[in-house]
Amino acid sequence: MICSKFRVWLLLTPLILWLALFPGSLLAQISKPAWDDPRIEARVDELLKQMTLEEKVGQLVQRTAFGGVTGVGGGGTGWPEASRGEVGSLFNLTAPEQINTVQRAAVEKSRLHIPMLFGLDVIHGFRTTFPVPLAMAATWDPNLVERASRIAAEEASSSGLRWTFSPMVDIARDARWGRIVEGAGEDPYLGAIMARAYVRGYQGQRLHAPDSLAACAKHYVGYGAAEGGRDYNTVDMSERTLRQVYLPPFKAAVEEGVATVMSAFNSLNGVPASANPFTLNRILRGEWNFRGFVVSDYTSIAELIPHGLANEGPTAARKALLAGVDMDMESKLYTNLIQLVRSGAVAEAAVDDAARRVLRVKFALGLFDHPYAPETPQPAAIKPEYLEAARTVAEKSLVLLKNDGVTSGGPALPIGAQVRTLALIGPLADSAEDMLGPWHTSQANPKGVITLRAALSERAQRSGIQLIYARGTEIWGESDSGFAEAVSAARQADLVVLALGEDAFSSGEAGSRTRLDLPGNQAGLLAAVAQTGKPAALVLFNGRPLVLTSVLPHVSALLEAWFPGVEAGPALARALFGDVNPGGKLTVTFPRTVGQEPLYYNAFNTGRPAEGIDLSHRPMNAAERFHSRYIDELNAPLFPFGYGLSYTQFAYSPLTLSTRALSARELNSGSDASLRVSAEVKNAGNRAGEEVVQCYIREQGGSVVRPVRELKGFQRVTLAAGESKRVEFTLGRDELALWNIDMQEVVEPARVTVWIGPNAWQGSEAEIEVE
Ligand code: NOJ
Repeated sequence: MICSKFRVWLLLTPLILWLALFPGSLLAQISKPAWDDPRIEARVDELLKQMTLEEKVGQLVQRTAFGGVTGVGGGGTGWPEASRGEVGSLFNLTAPEQINTVQRAAVEKSRLHIPMLFGLDVIHGFRTTFPVPLAMAATWDPNLVERASRIAAEEASSSGLRWTFSPMVDIARDARWGRIVEGAGEDPYLGAIMARAYVRGYQGQRLHAPDSLAACAKHYVGYGAAEGGRDYNTVDMSERTLRQVYLPPFKAAVEEGVATVMSAFNSLNGVPASANPFTLNRILRGEWNFRGFVVSDYTSIAELIPHGLANEGPTAARKALLAGVDMDMESKLYTNLIQLVRSGAVAEAAVDDAARRVLRVKFALGLFDHPYAPETPQPAAIKPEYLEAARTVAEKSLVLLKNDGVTSGGPALPIGAQVRTLALIGPLADSAEDMLGPWHTSQANPKGVITLRAALSERAQRSGIQLIYARGTEIWGESDSGFAEAVSAARQADLVVLALGEDAFSSGEAGSRTRLDLPGNQAGLLAAVAQTGKPAALVLFNGRPLVLTSVLPHVSALLEAWFPGVEAGPALARALFGDVNPGGKLTVTFPRTVGQEPLYYNAFNTGRPAEGIDLSHRPMNAAERFHSRYIDELNAPLFPFGYGLSYTQFAYSPLTLSTRALSARELNSGSDASLRVSAEVKNAGNRAGEEVVQCYIREQGGSVVRPVRELKGFQRVTLAAGESKRVEFTLGRDELALWNIDMQEVVEPARVTVWIGPNAWQGSEAEIEVE
């Protein structure tokens, strides 16, 4: 008889042996970064004990592979700094052989064999370029965003990359700021949901899996609130606005387990974000318990000098480290920490803490157990299922902004059987490179992009339609030499499709604009084509809201395409011909004039709202004048947040509420009481369609003022012609809490108005009391 204790040991022994031999394989079973996993901490401790000060500082140094990289290429011996353990991370290499060459130098030649972490800006796809992030947000479908990021992670990791500087989760309320294209738009609730989706997609089920990337929530924090929309500019805002609007997507990313955070370029309330102990040490680490590491933005530690926070490099390094920045991206200043520790200006424990965080992420990624990329040759073609995913995301990101009837009857879109000749006009109709947006990787091949022209030609041929193409003008530039050809094409056509907008580099980093109209002579081209009297559908390519006030009267239909990625053409052709029904919605407000910026839906009402006042003319008397208004423009945007049409129509029923009252006291003491609110949404048209049903609230009567509307839920639903669905939202503590006058996040007694509707302007409404 084997005693039961012995039997247990007998059963456990193989498992224990296996764990001892392959510790990584157990880590591989852990879902999400297991920050509190004692095995990771034990390995970090063990390693730290053996490290010299120089080696610890080396882990805090990140360099870019552009320029100054020697010996990385085929047959090279690797980077000398890597073999000396002087650099912990390198970014911008994309070839697995090059990455492995440097990694071998670090792992095989450095004293402690610590692997390096290789990163890249994988923003919206690696080889398979998806629509730009602003477009992905317009899908209002976090599952699609997660799928796109998973694909990006699979592709990038197969090249040896294990870290992406994405997602950008900056809230952007100003269309002049070019980086609005990189985020999810102006809303913190939507931004938080999208932030989570990206992190899940990149990091996968197990950060330790070889096909996972460490994500990086950036740019922490407030970067999108640059004064005047000018990139890198000063940011000054109340702590309440910071916590209520700008922090939530970062907090969501941290809750989702994001491995890294990037500190921003801007100053925030007088303290640069890359040396800001309040946002980094106190909020990120203290309040949210973030256990990963913080990397500075590119040279943002060196930029503490022009900011005026430091007069020389070593001081900049000290201030950044002590504020909570663990890794120095390319400022080349953290090597000063060695001397700063020796002189007693910086405690070695601060370096230990930072090195510990970097190593923790490296262990969590499994880099110590599998440091190298497989060098199997990449297949020449992108996987068909990835391309299909890119097309689906592009289709779902299209936002129909106008679709009026034309003289032949019916709306301009989709293109109907009466159209026998189609004119395709404009400088963006055939521009493969622009379809990839301002920030694709070097692995994205413009030759693989199917443009609108290519897809429409194919489609027209298949349907026996004649397609006449004319470029018309350049994107930027004043030439009108192509107008005559464009006008002649329009004259011959039953319908004109115009492809106008910005080039990719009009937005993105350092892409701020003061004019938000169509660049170059495109408005002139549009006017010339409009003079033919032919119905026109405008397909707009852009990385930000544009001012379309004088464009709209010239077109019968307007389809917002953003920069749709590698499958731009097929997605657009399918939408134009009605194979798919556009169902995306704006996540940024489109202004009527630049002077309205920053313009966003979730603004305060003010004490003098202009409600009920006719703003369409200059004020004629005191009653019209003394309101929060402009004397020369409406307050309203051209298109509000959440807006988007469909080839069908949706009708909303009055709301049904589960209760008329909730108790603030109970909610604050942990009760999971909630309001369930629902509306019946009906497809009242005669074709299937998708509607993004949105739920908003307004709270009045608390200790601080709250926005006129705040998004608190959304669902993208598919409805067959004539079909109805009841769409329900739950509003509990999380949705009702606010940062009160004492800077505590609580539910306050308030009158709460609730809307369920198609955008931030419309919807069925009801009221409840939080007592
Ligand atoms: C600067 C950008 O602000 C940041 O978004 C990016 O990740 C780094 N450069 C690295 O390329």
